[in-house]
Amino acid sequence: MAETLRSLEVPRILDDWYVLARSTELGRAPLARELHGRSIVLFRDGAGRAAALLDRCPHRNVPLSAGRVEQGELQCPYHGWRFAADGRCTAVPGLPTEADHRSRRCGSFAVTERDGFVWVWATEGATPSREPFALPLVHDRRYATVHQTIDVAGTVHAVAENALDVPHTAYLHRGLFRGTGTTNELEVRVRRFHDRVEAEYVGEPRPEGLLGRVLAPRGGVVEHFDRFFLPSIAQVEYRLGESHVLATTALTPLDDRHTRMHGVVSFRLPFVPPRLAQPIGELLRPLGMVVLKQDARILAKQDATIARFGETRFSSTELDVLGPSILKLLRHAERGRDRVDLASELSDERSFRMRV
Ligand code: FES
Ligand SMILES: [Fe+2]
Repeated sequence: MAETLRSLEVPRILDDWYVLARSTELGRAPLARELHGRSIVLFRDGAGRAAALLDRCPHRNVPLSAGRVEQGELQCPYHGWRFAADGRCTAVPGLPTEADHRSRRCGSFAVTERDGFVWVWATEGATPSREPFALPLVHDRRYATVHQTIDVAGTVHAVAENALDVPHTAYLHRGLFRGTGTTNELEVRVRRFHDRVEAEYVGEPRPEGLLGRVLAPRGGVVEHFDRFFLPSIAQVEYRLGESHVLATTALTPLDDRHTRMHGVVSFRLPFVPPRLAQPIGELLRPLGMVVLKQDARILAKQDATIARFGETRFSSTELDVLGPSILKLLRHAERGRDRVDLASELSDERSFRMRV
């Protein structure tokens, strides 16, 4: 399969949830965030619930994130106007009449906190029509979990494709986890659904040497899945014997060309209790960062080249297992077709062989 794709447009999906912060980051102070090129301020109301407003005071357009939270309301640092979690103006210091007025309202966004993240619905003033993606395993006591956030230059599509792309690992990450000399032939099964796409890799051998023996003392075959879920979740899953790793990355489009990756890796190792697995995860973090920075550097080069040429022009083969399907999903979702009814419906399945 050879396919050429031209596009000037970056799909923007506005009817869905995106991670804007970790719950632990949002304390007493307001937080300034970006989503789809818009500035949003997060804060906690009097009950401790997370709230999200446009980060622009309706009065003279000072960023509200430069202000402070007073009794669960956000106070602008310039003239002290105050705003409730729903964006209503609750105080205009010195004004003898009622503070609340339509022209003084600040745009607000639906917010929910789940699995340790603050999720914001991307359309101002809209009522969410679905739940945010549920992060599996983060509440499972048998698993240790490590978080990592990194900003990269590139679209959600480019970053998701990179996170789920197998062939680049032998080149860009040579020597780190693939490309050590041996080549294996795998079977790839790709399943496309209306809200996600999944690739299953069959036939990956157990890693050689000590690593393989530590991960699977009793042997076993590698089960490997790569998945993308709308609007922007990339997930890699490995199972080998008793070992299980699930790396889920929630991608947040800061703007069309910049993406924040909120990575969550939950894992379980044979004979290692989670409280001991946790420090092992922390020890492996620097290695993970080496890999992530290699990806970030190549994505920045890709993005700069696309910007210089003013267009994307992709020539894909079937080794580009998920990228073209991810783009199709994004384009389809951008047109706003409701995904709820179709969520579990399998639209097609294909399989082929690949050498890595
Ligand atoms: S600019 Fe915010 S109160 Fe005046
Ligand atoms: Fe990579």
